Amino acid sequence: MVLCFYASLVFTLTAQVVASSSKQRIFSSAFAIPGNASYDYVVVGGGTAGLAIASRLAETFSVAVIEAGGFYEVENGNQSVVPWYSLIMPVLSVSESYPRQPLVDWDLVSVPQTAAGDRRIHFARGKTLGGCSAINTMGYHRPTVGSFQYWADLVGDQSYTWPNVLPYFKKSTHLTPPDLQKRNVQNATVLYDPTAFDNSLNGPIHVSWGNWVDITGTWLSLAMQSIGLPLSPTGFSSGILSGYSGWVTSEIRAEDATRSSSDSYLRQAIENAQITVYTHTQATRILFDQGSPKKANGVLVSTAGFEYTISANKEVIVSAGVFHSPQLLMVSGIGPKATLDAHNIPVIADLPGVGQNLWDQIFFDILSGVNTPTTGALVADPTQSANILSQYLNNASGPYSSAGGFIAFEKIPKAQRNFTERTTSLLNTLPSDWPEIEYVVLAFPGANGSTVGAMSATIQAPFSRGNVTISSSSIADPPIINMAWLTDPADGELLVAAFKRCRQAWNSSVLTPIKVGPEIAPGEAVQSDEDILAWIRTQVVPIWHPSSTCKINLFLQHSRPPNNKHGLAHRPRRRRTPCRSLQTLPSSVELFRPHPYQSRTRNRSRRSGSVG
Ligand SMILES: *[C@@H]1O[C@H](CO)[C@@H](O)[C@H](O)[C@H]1NC(C)=O
Ligand SMILES: *[C@@H]1O[C@H](CO)[C@@H](O)[C@H](O)[C@H]1NC(C)=O
Ligand SMILES: *[C@@H]1O[C@H](CO)[C@@H](O)[C@H](O)[C@H]1NC(C)=O
Ligand SMILES: *[C@@H]1O[C@H](CO)[C@@H](O)[C@H](O)[C@H]1NC(C)=O
Ligand SMILES: *[C@@H]1O[C@H](CO)[C@@H](O)[C@H](O)[C@H]1NC(C)=O
Ligand SMILES: *[C@@H]1O[C@H](CO)[C@@H](O)[C@H](O)[C@H]1NC(C)=O
Ligand SMILES: *[C@@H]1O[C@H](CO)[C@@H](O)[C@H](O)[C@H]1NC(C)=O
Ligand SMILES: *[C@@H]1O[C@H](CO)[C@@H](O)[C@H](O)[C@H]1NC(C)=O
Ligand SMILES: *[C@@H]1O[C@H](CO)[C@@H](O)[C@H](O)[C@H]1NC(C)=O
Repeated sequence: MVLCFYASLVFTLTAQVVASSSKQRIFSSAFAIPGNASYDYVVVGGGTAGLAIASRLAETFSVAVIEAGGFYEVENGNQSVVPWYSLIMPVLSVSESYPRQPLVDWDLVSVPQTAAGDRRIHFARGKTLGGCSAINTMGYHRPTVGSFQYWADLVGDQSYTWPNVLPYFKKSTHLTPPDLQKRNVQNATVLYDPTAFDNSLNGPIHVSWGNWVDITGTWLSLAMQSIGLPLSPTGFSSGILSGYSGWVTSEIRAEDATRSSSDSYLRQAIENAQITVYTHTQATRILFDQGSPKKANGVLVSTAGFEYTISANKEVIVSAGVFHSPQLLMVSGIGPKATLDAHNIPVIADLPGVGQNLWDQIFFDILSGVNTPTTGALVADPTQSANILSQYLNNASGPYSSAGGFIAFEKIPKAQRNFTERTTSLLNTLPSDWPEIEYVVLAFPGANGSTVGAMSATIQAPFSRGNVTISSSSIADPPIINMAWLTDPADGELLVAAFKRCRQAWNSSVLTPIKVGPEIAPGEAVQSDEDILAWIRTQVVPIWHPSSTCKINLFLQHSRPPNNKHGLAHRPRRRRTPCRSLQTLPSSVELFRPHPYQSRTRNRSRRSGSVG
């Protein structure tokens, strides 16, 4: 039995208890009562990677998952469940004075970004089962063949190549084709390769398309195609991205148009596997034995201030995200010695790479007025609200049913490449199919019933590297985050080139019938490369794809053969840190972030539209 929602947890619990056969565990058996306990594996973090590995391991071993949050279906109202809300969720504001939602967000704010307008950025991170896959914009796509080959070569391990990881992508997903009857337009053509999926594997993550397409988006998509980015014949799950556009797939349950997140792994595991979840519980320190080398043998945790120990007979697996994984390692004595010394933390392993190498992908958008309708205005129209709510609840259709939009990927075309030698040689280190830029088109309501269209560009190959460190020896004090946006000049050059591509798209004759007035932002006065870059510095925001702060090859000592039986969703092979029995997981261990799941978020006062 697969649970769909926790709209009524009480009802769910009752239904589970009544319906369970003797073979299945009852739902509540998967949740622990605080207190000392012992398991084969202890996984810190019930997010995108943690729940995937925990559910696989729990097929054979006893596994505890330590999760600081709870169920987002309970703790974030319908905001994380109804696709439309993922585009306008207030907590996803990047403003330093963002609206707080402490039940699902970690409340992290960066240090001032000195090369990006000195702004402090609220960096939302999912503190909930499902992690950031519970608060993103639900887009789903896969990296390229070349980027996996690059990864495999970098770590000297060919089990990371595309043919070897594709089975895991298939095993983790279930595809439902678009419902052309329910979609409101017929001119948003969806192309995809069904062989990129295999529903017979019963993957927990549901992938499909929303049943609503923003009308302005259908026009802006033509502009993207007109600048040389045709619709991909295979979609974005077959290892090919660069040079193509398309209506992106969403992580969505097609039958009722609700979010599918990585907490689906947990729901599958609850029934038959030996998984035990500690909700509202934070790992405060990893514990080690007295051996040499030291072996991680448990985790000190805290539930509402009550501290206790969860012991690991086999391994502790750290999957606490790009900011909290390095923080937990450092407060436990694993990290740069100088940092640990400064906070009087006994050094278990001096690993200078912990907390370094932070990649972040940033975007801006160019705005113009258009005369076409936009979804945001429709949803806000009180005369329509009963109708659109009924469409959603009764038919899984209408504006609420969709989050994903139109996206495109490319390397900046030859004729428009005007990069310095340094930037050119940096970019040449990347595989030929690795896109430099991702474009997203969207639209939102402007003043007085008008519509504003946006062409947005995200850098997919940033060269700026930030870092994360600790402010004290306590996990309770937030980590210090510095994305170092635009500190590498190559990023500025790339974004200026992408800016010109967006303007070229806006200038396409296909938009003549809908364009109204002069460019709204930045405005036609901004023309020189210097002015464009100066404007970009004040505008860029995160697309919430930070990665790579526990870059594993920096402290890799030995690896072990692929463990396919219990392998990860996307990473068939895991690597060990020097401390035996301690592993860290994506996305913090990624060496780099090629072009991951879409997870766009919008500033509510500016945006609402079709976004991937
Ligand atoms: C829990 O385990 C810790 C560490 O092993 C121990 O010090 C403590 O006494 C235990 N608490 C209880 C209630 O058994
Ligand atoms: C979401 O919940 C709010 C109440 O908090 C309700 O007004 C709204 O109609 C719900 N939206 C949908 C699509 O069910
Ligand atoms: C959203 O954007 C608007 C316009 O740029 C800005 O004035 C406002 O402060 C932003 N709001 C939040 C919550 O970030
Ligand atoms: C419900 O969906 C069907 C297609 O499955 C469509 O024909 C019908 O118009 C939809 N009804 C409403 C009220 O949206
Ligand atoms: C696509 O179809 C919709 C509705 O049928 C229409 O309103 C919109 O203008 C069309 N878009 C384009 C680019 O023709
Ligand atoms: C190329 O870049 C140089 C240096 O930034 C700039 O001065 C020049 O205007 C650019 N040329 C074009 C055609 O954009
Ligand atoms: C909106 O309409 C009001 C009243 O007609 C007008 O004063 C205002 O300037 C308009 N705003 C914009 C941005 O067009
Ligand atoms: C993080 O990077 C900044 C420069 O971008 C540097 O000044 C700072 O010392 C670094 N902090 C750590 C802990 O590495
Ligand atoms: C816009 O397009 C026109 C022709 O359609 C062209 O002459 C002009 O140079 C273009 N402007 C930009 C900024 O691309």
